[in-house]
Amino acid sequence: MNYKALLLVLGVAGYLALSARGRFEEEDPSSLSFRYPHHISISWETAPVSSQSISWRTHDTVRVSFVEYLETTATPFFKDQVKRLPAKTERHTADDGTWNHHSANIQGLKPNTTYSYRVGNHTYWSEWAEFTTASGTREPFSFIYFGDVQRDIYSLGSRTIRKAIMDKPDAKFLLFGGDLVHRGAENLGNWNEFFPTGGWVYQSYPLLATPGNHEYANAASPDYLTKHWRLNFTFPQNGPAGQEEETYFVDYNNIRLISLNLIRYPIDKPGTQKMLVWLEERLKEFKGDWVIIVHHYSMEQLARNREAGVRFPEFKALYERYQVPLVLTGHEHVYARGRMNGTLPVYVVSVSGPYQNAIRFPDWIERAGSSLQLYQLIDITPTRIQYTSKTVRGDVYDAFSIEKDKKGRLKFAASPSLGPESLLPPDKFETRYKKEQVDSYAKDRDNYLNRKK
Ligand SMILES: [Fe+2]
Repeated sequence: MNYKALLLVLGVAGYLALSARGRFEEEDPSSLSFRYPHHISISWETAPVSSQSISWRTHDTVRVSFVEYLETTATPFFKDQVKRLPAKTERHTADDGTWNHHSANIQGLKPNTTYSYRVGNHTYWSEWAEFTTASGTREPFSFIYFGDVQRDIYSLGSRTIRKAIMDKPDAKFLLFGGDLVHRGAENLGNWNEFFPTGGWVYQSYPLLATPGNHEYANAASPDYLTKHWRLNFTFPQNGPAGQEEETYFVDYNNIRLISLNLIRYPIDKPGTQKMLVWLEERLKEFKGDWVIIVHHYSMEQLARNREAGVRFPEFKALYERYQVPLVLTGHEHVYARGRMNGTLPVYVVSVSGPYQNAIRFPDWIERAGSSLQLYQLIDITPTRIQYTSKTVRGDVYDAFSIEKDKKGRLKFAASPSLGPESLLPPDKFETRYKKEQVDSYAKDRDNYLNRKK
């Protein structure tokens, strides 16, 4: 074989090895290509103004891994400026082999500064990627919210994530409302789809998430959060004892974002009290402009085969008492937005993946949707939250604003120019639901639409 032919063969073999990293189902976990860091995402364990956490995974033979970083330079000749930090490493055997999960939290960074970083060791390194620290000011910024991705992540969930980031490339972070995957305890078909789906986006945009019931080992009767949650992500440990990285807050500039793991609510009464007390303290002490809350379960179940009624009245009361403007949720696999008893907060229920439910229409819903893949853009200023929910085509599906006047009073206004609602029942509606739930659908939908006239 001549030299050129050898190069071609090596090139093709290298390309196949790299592209296989996005297709884990057929891959042999003992393959050396897995020495390269993968499942890389950035987030925050501590203040966004001065730190950046990073998590990644390698083949279990890679026992030591590092993060290297520097302030981003225009020149590629930056070797002398690189700082190095050793990762914390934990070995874990999953359904697709044994892996080392690595994480690091870079601290002491400058505000509003772009850094380049890579992770790895020896000859096995990720590409250099960039992140920018928070400014710590009250300047306007945006972030993106995604409801459940969960199923067919690679095949269909990917299109929502892709469209959202192309729509809002200057977003400061991504927020996921739980059920990122269908079976959180498994990599095959789950985390092995979720991470390659985000690819460089998760390496470049800090990712925050609250756990969903499908991040539990048994989604139907949750008893423990999958180990993958803490192995895959590095979130704040400022929640109530025993709920670190599930219930937590992040102060990004002038907003406080609070993740509540309400999945503990039905199974862990003392934990619930702990969470309520913790939440009230966080609401009481906050001096910034806005608190936004995210939890997986919606305040009322909306799938047509689920029970009616407010699920978390103690939390609802706290939100109202402390004038929380916006609560972002998921779980129902439908779209809904509304205020309960006409008062703030605005509750949002959304879904980004392809799995869809048929919807019920309780009185508080002001905008509904079904059989849609959606993402939400949230634009923040000191006196205004502008919310826009878009379909995967990029069309505006819902929009509203919450404004704060000089006395701190909040005013809600829905966009006056929204199009008709999309209320198509999902695929296999007739077989997945009881006859009476199917038969009553058209009447319930028409009553809902008439109520709003
Ligand atoms: Fe879900």
